[in-house]
Amino acid sequence: MNDILVMNQIEKKFGKGHTEVTALKGIDFTVKAGEFISIIGPSGSGKSTFLTIAGGLQNPTSGEILINQTNFTRLSEKQRSKLRFKEIGFILQSANLIPFLKVKEQFYLVDKVTGRKKEEAYMEELLESLDILKLKDKYPRDLSGGERQRVAIGRALFNQPSLILADEPTASLDTDHAYEVVKLLVKEAHEKQKATVMVTHDSRMVQWSDRIYRMEDGRLLEEK
Ligand SMILES: Nc1ncnc2c1ncn2[C@@H]1O[C@H](COP(=O)(O)OP(=O)(O)O)[C@@H](O)[C@H]1O
Ligand SMILES: [Mg+2]
Repeated sequence: MNDILVMNQIEKKFGKGHTEVTALKGIDFTVKAGEFISIIGPSGSGKSTFLTIAGGLQNPTSGEILINQTNFTRLSEKQRSKLRFKEIGFILQSANLIPFLKVKEQFYLVDKVTGRKKEEAYMEELLESLDILKLKDKYPRDLSGGERQRVAIGRALFNQPSLILADEPTASLDTDHAYEVVKLLVKEAHEKQKATVMVTHDSRMVQWSDRIYRMEDGRLLEEK
């Protein structure tokens, strides 16, 4: 009932003929509100392909995806990007900040686009919990890689999406900050009922997960 993301028999092929690669081989996957799910697996196993398809950034070759009961695969490109903006928070390996905006302005942009009032208190709460509140008037070029990544995480959470998709979110962080960031994502999932999927190759980061899967050559296997 409170399934946020449902994927049925998802297959993804790249290329044609003798160069064809099947990156995902018939994946069934469901995440409910409030669940924190981790997916581990080696480089090239299909983790990023899985996550971008889950979030509608690319289409599967076959299979269907439902986000909050809406069949994503049947929407037009325009409807899809609207749903994506409203319901999904992406956290990518590199931070993707806007270079000419200060940290706090990266957040206000969301308020502006969504037409809601400036939620300054919530922004400050997020920045504080990410240990970057003192950086709010700085530009991305004045931040370290890890600080930039924490801003990007705060910005994804700030939009209050129902689904959070994180692709190696701790890759550019030192161990202490990596743990902090994962714990924050877990806390957000549990306390604010966010369905969260984190992809990582760092097995130290998955200890707080409700379920752990392993991606192996395009197949998703639940870890026991
Ligand atoms: N746009 C693409 N075109 C062709 N092959 C791709 C593309 N994206 C991914 N692949 C292939 O799909 C497989 C899975 O890649 P990826 O999802 O990036 O794995 P991971 O994130 O686990 O490292 C790899 O064999 C990769 O080369
Ligand atoms: Mg990847």
